[in-house]
Amino acid sequence: MRAVVCETWGGPELLRVREVPPPVPKPDQVLIKVHAAGVNFPDTLIIRNLYQLKPELPFTPGSEVGGEVIAVGEAVSTFKPGDRVIGLCVLGGYAEEVVADAKLTLPIPDDVSYEVAAGLMMAYATSWLGVRDRGTVKPGETMLVLGASGGVGLAAVEIGKAVGARVVAAASSDEKLAVCIAHGADAVINYATEDLRAAIKRTCPAGLDVILDPVGGPYTEAAFRSIAWRGRLLIVGFTSGTVPSLAMNLPLLKNASIIGVMYGGFPQREPEAHAACAAELFGWLRAGKIRPLISNTYTLDEAPEALRVMASRTVQGKIVFKT
Ligand SMILES: NC(=O)c1ccc[n+]([C@@H]2O[C@H](COP(=O)([O-])OP(=O)(O)OC[C@H]3O[C@@H](n4cnc5c(N)ncnc54)[C@H](OP(=O)(O)O)[C@@H]3O)[C@@H](O)[C@H]2O)c1
Repeated sequence: MRAVVCETWGGPELLRVREVPPPVPKPDQVLIKVHAAGVNFPDTLIIRNLYQLKPELPFTPGSEVGGEVIAVGEAVSTFKPGDRVIGLCVLGGYAEEVVADAKLTLPIPDDVSYEVAAGLMMAYATSWLGVRDRGTVKPGETMLVLGASGGVGLAAVEIGKAVGARVVAAASSDEKLAVCIAHGADAVINYATEDLRAAIKRTCPAGLDVILDPVGGPYTEAAFRSIAWRGRLLIVGFTSGTVPSLAMNLPLLKNASIIGVMYGGFPQREPEAHAACAAELFGWLRAGKIRPLISNTYTLDEAPEALRVMASRTVQGKIVFKT
């Protein structure tokens, strides 16, 4: 089978497509014929050995796929060949076939495409974990989303609206903000052209009940200084490249909480909560409350370009590989 292989740490231009032996499922795994594979920001870091997950070389990136089960390990009774599934494979997804633990595999409803399924969980389940679970966002609360047109950000905009919050989307261009409005944002802030703190004061004079932050850097403190009484800062990621620090008097003064949001490990440690998350996401998909944006698709041969684009701060919503 064909797979994208990372043989040397470095930029996407070093990725190669190789003929490799297909993986063999362990007793508790399923073998999936990949129809689509989601591209995520961490993939751009893993290939440079800059991510917390540090695989041995050579390896194939790709943590989530949509595809069809073609074989199951002897201990698997929950799936059978022919089933349409999302595989949360951790690595190996940028390939024609991949194995995933049966426990990290979800059935795809008939009306959901492989492309949407492949790009769903890393973005939407992460934002669900932040908004619904860790942040307990309530109807009528005001939530600021940083990096709001990216994969996690746009998912948070839609999920915030689905739970009845007032959602303020912040991003670095008017074009990106137009996408946020099209996906339900109530108000927008262009933090490339306007001081973020001043813009929050203008758009949210009562302060922010929740901040969902996949960006970090200077934006985190600028936003947190407008946190409301009992507000929650949801720490999701650091695409800016800088892990921010905050003076601890800031949360004290507002009875505010700083909350980590980590999707990795959530399905394994809390399978029932993860199943509830997936069920709610699929329900919202069916009801049209979330509308994942797949802004581009690539072939495996285009992997260097896809990962270059992913790292270039230009992707809106998600990009996926089609195999
Ligand atoms: N905690 C978890 O479980 C979890 C799960 C999935 C992802 N993540 C993390 O969440 C973050 C977002 O992931 P994603 O897949 O949504 O990424 P994405 O689609 O690339 O979106 C990230 C956004 O960050 C903003 N950004 C600011 N500075 C940037 C820079 N120097 N380079 C690139 N983007 C920059 C961009 O928006 P503007 O241009 O508008 O600023 C961009 O739209 C990543 O750090 C990822 O590792 C965490």
